[in-house]
Amino acid sequence: MKFFIDTANLEQIKSAAAMGVLDGVTTNPSLAAKETTPYRELLAEICKVVPGPVSAEVLATEYDGMMKEAKELAAIADNIVVKIPTILEGLKAIKSLTEEGIHTNATLVFSPSQALLVAKAGASYVSPFIGRLDDVSTHGMELIEQIVTIYHNYSFTTEVLVASVRHPMHVVEAALIGADVTTMPYSVLSKLIKHQLTDIGLEKFISDFKKAQQG
Ligand code: E4P
Repeated sequence: MKFFIDTANLEQIKSAAAMGVLDGVTTNPSLAAKETTPYRELLAEICKVVPGPVSAEVLATEYDGMMKEAKELAAIADNIVVKIPTILEGLKAIKSLTEEGIHTNATLVFSPSQALLVAKAGASYVSPFIGRLDDVSTHGMELIEQIVTIYHNYSFTTEVLVASVRHPMHVVEAALIGADVTTMPYSVLSKLIKHQLTDIGLEKFISDFKKAQQG
């Protein structure tokens, strides 16, 4: 499974890249709004740090505006993937951008029917937001199972990018289902390595060895 980091914060991205397991980055307008550097400048910096796919989101909500913005974003770097909202106008834009060779990430996906449509339109990635589904008393991970099954049934090449991840078990469950990618906040990425028994065990190994040396 590929690991993406879900942030527009350059320091977090650098630190995640240094872990050696980072495959890409996802950003969105809310994440960009937390940073002081203008979005497009920031994207150019991020693309220099991470050679893998970097998702950059359009703000337009109608076809022509999405197409214009998508082309401007795609011109920033070769590894930009344009995030398009999963609405009717977005579906048309995904189809056209795919035909023009621009990679897309269909965002704000909450149902299997939306995922089926964006795959038919040729999206490179589909982003189901599982945490937001969990927040409204729905089992978000069931949506991942459904999408993985549908894409497998018809050999769609759209990659399933699990988004709106809240904790390490979301990552584990996504991996068990066989999702292609999980994008996660820095806080979740840094928790994946941690286990208290590892820390306790390591401390004991070192103290046992030191005691034996002293005795
Ligand atoms: C994905 O691409 C989105 O940026 C993100 O995962 C949204 O997560 P949130 O629901 O925590 O805002």
